[in-house]
This record gives sequence, structure tokens and C-alpha cells, in this order.
Amino acid sequence: MVPGARLIILGKQGAGKGTQCVRLSRHYVVPHISTGDMFRAAVKSRSELGAKAKEYMDTGELVPDEVVMGLVAERLGLDDTKARGFVLDGFPRTVHQAKGLAELLAPDEIDLVVNLEVPTEVVLRRLAGRRVCVDCGANYSVDSPPRLNWTCDICGGEVVQRQDDTEAAIRRRLDLYERETRPLVDWYAERDLLAEVEGVGDPDEITGGLVRVVDQRREHSLGRRV
Ligand code: AP5
Ligand code: MG
Repeated sequence: MVPGARLIILGKQGAGKGTQCVRLSRHYVVPHISTGDMFRAAVKSRSELGAKAKEYMDTGELVPDEVVMGLVAERLGLDDTKARGFVLDGFPRTVHQAKGLAELLAPDEIDLVVNLEVPTEVVLRRLAGRRVCVDCGANYSVDSPPRLNWTCDICGGEVVQRQDDTEAAIRRRLDLYERETRPLVDWYAERDLLAEVEGVGDPDEITGGLVRVVDQRREHSLGRRV
């Protein structure tokens, strides 16, 4: 079996983080941990956490760091991540969160952070066309809909537009990305943990590019150890 991995996928809204993390999670047999999916599940189950997160998410604001850190600490504390690793999607999103993550993982480190680079005009088009399953979160778009009448191919759930895929919320999310999340690219580059992969084109080819940079990093790290 392929060895596990500890990965972070960075990229602006609509870059394809969710789409690619599902595939990476299958390839490396590690859990896909998406803070956005976790918050959407909390909203759906009407939990206290969901009520807290919803007011921020619907307008495209970031959920406060202390709420996010508590949720991630709990998730990374489960045995599955300790055994083989994880692929993080949408977290960390601020330098403060990245520092918190490093503390949570110490003495272990992340294997690699990949920045999925996609131009803004492309993400705007993708977000306008995106549709998601309300039950399992599977991603579709108006260009590649489910086979049957907006019913999820995987679980049969209803496939709808996301609450925060409105023009105003998208604009706010992209602003916040530039201000709060883009600095993480340099932050991880300074720590020699960053790789860049172009996120435009055939999704299978993009997955191939991601697997290549992760495997190269692994060989490089093994080479350093011997
Ligand atoms: P989150 O759910 O993480 O949303 P996001 O950051 O806005 O990112 P997206 O999910 O919109 O984009 P994606 O990169 O996953 O793209 P996707 O694969 O879907 O967060 C939601 C909210 O939760 C935040 O706004 C915030 O409020 C809160 N939150 C979450 N984490 C937080 C944190 N750490 N701190 C604070 N708050 C937090 O792809 C988009 C579309 O493009 C899809 O339709 C897909 O089918 C299509 N597509 C994908 N790849 C391709 C391709 N190669 N070619 C053509 N189409 C493609
Ligand atoms: Mg996503």
C-alpha cells in the first residue's frame, strides 16, 4: 500500500481544493479534513457550533480562529490521523491558524503544503456554476451535473447551490483570501514546505501533478535521512 502523508492544500475559493482533496485522500488512504465541510455538517445538524459558524459563513466571513482551532484539535486527535496522516482542505487559513497547527502536530511536521494556483477569472466562473450535494457534500457544476435530475450520483441527496456562492459572499471570500490566507504561501515557502501546482485543466491531470510533487518531496526527505 502507498505510505500515508500529512498534507495541506492551499488555494483561493474555487481553486479545486475540495475536488482534489477527495482524490488525494483516496490515493494516500488518509482522511480528508475540510473545515468548510465540517462547519456545513454542523449547520445542517443545528448544533451549537453550527449556529455559531453560520452567521460568518453565509456572508463569506472567516469563522473566528478559536472556534476553528477547537474543531481541528478535536479532529486531529482521532486515531486515523495518527496512523497515516491527513489531507487538510481550507485549513489553515491565517498565519495564526498555521502556528496553532504546528503546535498541535509537534514534534511531527507537515510533509508538504501545495498551493493550487488558479486565476481569479477562472474561479469566479467555477463558483457561479458550482452545485453541491446537501447530504454528502459531493461537488458538481452546471457543466458536469449528476446523471439524474440534480440528485447526487453517490448518495441520492439533493444537489443545490451553496449558500455562500452568492456574488457578494464570493467577493468577500476572495478579499479575505488575499488579505488573510495568501500570506501563508510565503510563510510555508520560508519553511521550505511549499510546492506550487497549476490548478487549471483536466482534474485527473491536476491530481497527477499533485501526487508527483508529494512523492518527489517524500523521496527528497528519505534521501536526506540516509
Ligand atoms: P470552504 O468550504 O473551505 O470554502 P472556500 O474556501 O470558499 O473554498 P471552496 O470550497 O469554495 O473552493 P474549493 O477550492 O474547495 O473548490 P471546489 O473543489 O469546490 O469554507 C467555507 C466557509 O467556512 C468559509 O468562507 C468560512 O466562513 C468557513 N471556514 C472554513 N474553514 C475555515 C477556517 N480555516 N478558518 C475560518 N473560517 C473557515 O471547486 C469549485 C468548482 O469548480 C466546483 O464546481 C468543481 O466541480 C469545479 N472544478 C474543480 N476543479 C476543476 C477543474 N480542474 N476544471 C473545471 N472545474 C473544476
Ligand atoms: Mg471546498
